Amino acid sequence: MKKIFVTRTIPENGLNMLHAKGYFVTVSKKDGPLTKEELIQELQKDSYDAVVSLLTDPIDPDVFAATPSTKIFANYAVGFNNFDIEEAKKRNVFLTNTPGVLTDSVAEHTMALALALTCRIVEGDIFVKSGKYVGWDPLLLIGKDLKGSTLGIIGSGRIGARIAYHAKGFDMKIAYYDVVRNENIEKEQGAVFYATVEEVLRMSDVVVLAVPLLDSTRHLINKERLAIMKPSAYLINTARGPVIDEKALVEALQKGTIRGAGLDVYENEPELAQGLKDLPNVVLTPHIASATEFARSEMSRIAAENIIDVLEGRIPKNSVY
Ligand code: GLV
Ligand code: GLV
Repeated sequence: MKKIFVTRTIPENGLNMLHAKGYFVTVSKKDGPLTKEELIQELQKDSYDAVVSLLTDPIDPDVFAATPSTKIFANYAVGFNNFDIEEAKKRNVFLTNTPGVLTDSVAEHTMALALALTCRIVEGDIFVKSGKYVGWDPLLLIGKDLKGSTLGIIGSGRIGARIAYHAKGFDMKIAYYDVVRNENIEKEQGAVFYATVEEVLRMSDVVVLAVPLLDSTRHLINKERLAIMKPSAYLINTARGPVIDEKALVEALQKGTIRGAGLDVYENEPELAQGLKDLPNVVLTPHIASATEFARSEMSRIAAENIIDVLEGRIPKNSVY
């Protein structure tokens, strides 16, 4: 009988698909992410044919070595910076992700963070709930219209393109940078391509990050690049924390180099850079941009489909290499 290990409880629809194939499914009983040592211990308890992994599970040479029977690690995520792809190739192990189904969810969360900042939603909420609202005030919590502002999109893949679609609905101008041009967002959303990150940062009122975490995108937003943003600009990150030098961001927010930030991801999750949570001009969410009912159940379905494909001898649809 085929055996599957799932490193954390996920929506049951995908697990039911695996049960329906007659596979024996073991879900980690720990209430929280496994450490690498715990993951290795769990994998060594049996010979698993497949593993459903999370973005918090480092699938590195030690983990591959602990479970030589495993033919596929199916990430329950679109991001896959937790995978050692070269090692998987050497060992002929499939690695898959769950693209497409969380594009809307992440793009909507990105707009929600932008609007939370420009409409000062969280500050207003705290203000009212703490009893400070004593009457209408012409100068209270003045925000900024998205209409007519420039949205800078760094990374024009599926998620970046969907953010451009929403931004057009708000009548924003759209500037974007990517290593490859995306002619669709130019034609459909009127986005304008710039060949450097710097140009986009310099002109944008709201900058959103929609790049994967790669060596080339680690600390893409650093002290120097924050310094060229407008002092009135907002930075939004729903991609991966290490794309921003978080310490440099805290300093920039403290000094007023930029006006605010909306973050769903952090450099050393779940830790926050010192001082980040004390800033009034940040809105922070706990890596939930893909946490809609639809996205999370579809991610479960796709992870299961990728496993079934491999265990039935097919190439999985969402191989990452
Ligand atoms: C979430 O961060 C994902 O990569 O799916
Ligand atoms: C992820 O789904 C992306 O390509 O932006």
